[in-house]
Amino acid sequence: MDHFLYKNGSLHAEDVALSDIAAQVGTPFYVYSTATLERHYKLFTEALSPLPHLVCFAIKSLSNIAVLKVLGDLGAGMDVVSGGEYRRAKAAGVPGSRIVFSGVGKTRDEMRLALEGGVRQFNVESEPELRALSEVATSLAVTAPIALRINPDVDAKTHEKIATGKKENKFGIPIDRARAVYAEAARLPGIDVVGIDVHIGSQLTELEPFEQAFAKVAELTETLRGDGHTIRRLDLGGGLGIPYTRSNEAPPLPLDYGAMIKRTVGHLGCEIEIEPGRLISGNAGLLVSSVIYLKQGEGRDFLIVDAAMNDLARPSMYGAHHDIVPVVEPAPATAAQEFDVVGPVCETGDTFARHRPLTPLGEGDLVAFRSAGAYGAVMASEYNTRPLIPEVLVKGDQFAVIRARPSFDEILNRDTIPAWM
Ligand code: LLP
Repeated sequence: MDHFLYKNGSLHAEDVALSDIAAQVGTPFYVYSTATLERHYKLFTEALSPLPHLVCFAIKSLSNIAVLKVLGDLGAGMDVVSGGEYRRAKAAGVPGSRIVFSGVGKTRDEMRLALEGGVRQFNVESEPELRALSEVATSLAVTAPIALRINPDVDAKTHEKIATGKKENKFGIPIDRARAVYAEAARLPGIDVVGIDVHIGSQLTELEPFEQAFAKVAELTETLRGDGHTIRRLDLGGGLGIPYTRSNEAPPLPLDYGAMIKRTVGHLGCEIEIEPGRLISGNAGLLVSSVIYLKQGEGRDFLIVDAAMNDLARPSMYGAHHDIVPVVEPAPATAAQEFDVVGPVCETGDTFARHRPLTPLGEGDLVAFRSAGAYGAVMASEYNTRPLIPEVLVKGDQFAVIRARPSFDEILNRDTIPAWM
């Protein structure tokens, strides 16, 4: 459930009409619902209770500092994968003790930043990374709390570009080597082993791959404890999928996911961490765009909108489906018309949908791309020198621009012409 509904014939974010935001901010823009973000976060905390746990929002999915503050103020932790994301979490007021640092290629500078600013744990993905962290921590005379990210060799049954738990993927330490690497971690100075980490992929629409992976983590916990390690935390990653179409998709609910976690690892007495991104942010955001032209093509009608692949990359990058809805509510019996919905960018890949049945639309009409809160704004680029689009946060009947559209001067002034020219 989300808080984007038609009221008085017009699509709203909570109690704000999207047409009012469009009139003030201009299109295209992203808009997020505070109530939806809060609701999704609470679904996870409720699902994991009464186990001791921390829900660490994967901020790669939506990293605007205002959004992070909404969740951080509820007590959420943050899962970060770069020094930039770490800085965002801190800027939102989240203490280091609630920040988990993940990622396959952390640099020494990033390690130093987090060790100095405070960090709950590093999820370490390789032996070279472990040794580098040991060196950095020792040089600062501190101890780095770590979990090793284990690659359980499980098929997440998701899009190949976002599956991470098979042995051929670049992520984690092969589970067969885990004991040896934990032994090394225990010997290294400046390293404190606190747990195990696993993340097998994103947009999982079944529980079974998670269950397989978590069962392996449970078994490994017992083995490592037998070897004398203290395993008091299990970070089970993110990845729970969301419905991208309103009709025929029903991925598992957080409550079922929580029950499965309790079933597989609940008996171990560990503190549980999870790193959901998409389920919290995905359906908490829309991309609102307007129709520039309606162009008759060969056997098809192109709806050319002012958003493009640089604003929302998922359709061109993964062939992803986003529902597109008109902002003015169609009359009940309106016959659908098929459109190819495309942006203005100069490549055919800039296509959001082909043969999509929509209500009849024309120049100037507003449309909303649903489920665009996750991996939308964060993956945007300035391709074709299109400015990054604004982000707007709604709470009840209020809205605020939480990232403004840059001016062309700001964009052009970032380039410099060398002195020799
Ligand atoms: N933890 C780790 C270590 C991750 O790599 C990810 C996502 C998450 C948590 C959060 O996963 P989520 O709950 O959001 O599924 N750009 C792609 C998705 C990439 C996911 C990368 N890692 C997309 O638009 O579908």
